[in-house]
Amino acid sequence: MPSVLFVCLGNICRSPLAEGIFRHHVERRGLADRFVIDSAGTGDWHVGSPPHIESRRVARDRGLDISSQRARQIVPDDLKTFDWVVAMDTTNHRDILALPGAGGCPARVIRLLDIVSHASKDVPDPYFGGADGFDAVYDLLDEACAAFLDHVMD
Ligand code: 4NP
Repeated sequence: MPSVLFVCLGNICRSPLAEGIFRHHVERRGLADRFVIDSAGTGDWHVGSPPHIESRRVARDRGLDISSQRARQIVPDDLKTFDWVVAMDTTNHRDILALPGAGGCPARVIRLLDIVSHASKDVPDPYFGGADGFDAVYDLLDEACAAFLDHVMD
């Protein structure tokens, strides 16, 4: 059973959306009982919080409910228990690889946009911008999560 952990900085904007969108693609393909899907942040500021109000809003606009998610911080054991640890940007990727035990860990640690042909390999952080940023991030994550699911199932 493939297990996937999406990781951003705060686990309130990008990775909760990635978790919800990826789960939606998995369910649409009838694979729900074959996957474990979660998300986490490299930082601890928002531990226990629901996703950002604009992440919840854009998800709801597109028919997804991510409101029951709660932020948590990534722990070194995640690199043992997940097959895939999927960073939203290069900084997240670097911070994950700096966790104790990351060298030689069984998890495949990638950036989500490594597997799509985008000029930038970083999902932009919408936290400091306006609501439009969340819609743009949703579209990017939707395309990338579908491609990532193809990649995992290959
Ligand atoms: P995220 O966005 O990493 O996509 O959840 C952020 C959330 C919170 C902060 C920064 C980015 N923050 O500085 O609290």
